[in-house]
Amino acid sequence: MNSKNFFVTGGAGFIGSNVVKLLLEKKCNVTIYDNLSTGYLENIKDISKVSFIEGDILDKEKLISTSKEQDVVLHLAANIGNVKSLNDPWFDSSINIIGTLNVLDACKKNKINKLVYSSSAAIFGELMYQPIDEKHPIEPDSPYGVSKLAAEKHCLWFGRHFNIKTVALRYFNVYGVNQRYDSYGNVIPIWANLILRGDPIIIYDDGEQTRDFINVEDVALANYLAATNENVQGPYNLGSGSSVTINQLADMMIEVFNSNTQKIYTAKRLGEIRHCKADVKKASTDFGFRNTIGLKEGLYNYYKWLKRQ
Ligand SMILES: NC(=O)c1ccc[n+]([C@@H]2O[C@H](COP(=O)([O-])OP(=O)(O)OC[C@H]3O[C@@H](n4cnc5c(N)ncnc54)[C@H](O)[C@@H]3O)[C@@H](O)[C@H]2O)c1
Repeated sequence: MNSKNFFVTGGAGFIGSNVVKLLLEKKCNVTIYDNLSTGYLENIKDISKVSFIEGDILDKEKLISTSKEQDVVLHLAANIGNVKSLNDPWFDSSINIIGTLNVLDACKKNKINKLVYSSSAAIFGELMYQPIDEKHPIEPDSPYGVSKLAAEKHCLWFGRHFNIKTVALRYFNVYGVNQRYDSYGNVIPIWANLILRGDPIIIYDDGEQTRDFINVEDVALANYLAATNENVQGPYNLGSGSSVTINQLADMMIEVFNSNTQKIYTAKRLGEIRHCKADVKKASTDFGFRNTIGLKEGLYNYYKWLKRQ
């Protein structure tokens, strides 16, 4: 299995580069396809060991010609973020929906029979109950959530109609090494940046709202496990399976970053959900997913990486 050829779209990005790192450790052959719009070649330590193609997923012909002889596609390239998508839903949908259709078409034309798609918990919209399993109602409330859902449905449809086993991994809050503070509007890189500058961190509401943070190394492992298990297909929720309050996160970061920064409380943000936790039983039963990196350990690794930057 390890000698298989993996084609990773978005492999120079935050999550993609961690997936590539793991694939190289597993001695896989890796081709990265990325337009470097938000990715960085510096994210890939062993760049000499991968085949890098600078290309856009909107370039259908290039995708088809460069993904010949591949066995598995890990599709991470996307226009990311809820806020960005509000300003330009057309651009968001073209990359996330049409781009994904192009990737699927390349799989079909080149007879690649496995694809793992990076979906998002943004597809759920308003949360009705906890923990969130795969049967939770789906009603995205941003153009980004809509485009990630449409792309997920295209992947699953292709899976049913052509000989391609497609998996959609719906990530919750991913954090860790290679995450730039502006990449997704996520709280951990934003606070890390403030703490390192010696500025206070801002907490909305009373800080007792909860979130499920999953380390990017566990997300990379889930991609590998789902990609290399012949029997796995369909949608899977992917978080750590546990949650912390925002107050707990703040205290942990202040401790790990060895800082005495102030916490400032401000009004609740409109539309902000109160609690969020993934149910990961399906991923755990079907492909042995386990959350292996605790939040404190993951924050410490992230801190060490930031200090080296
Ligand atoms: N970061 C999170 O918390 C999170 C949560 C849920 C889902 N996701 C999903 O995970 C995937 C990876 O996200 P990330 O956080 O690593 O983002 P990122 O921006 O760091 O990575 C995206 C990568 O795709 C590349 N890319 C963008 N548009 C492209 C295009 N048109 N053609 C080719 N390459 C293109 C970028 O250059 C970048 O390297 C995305 O599909 C995203 O929707 C991320």
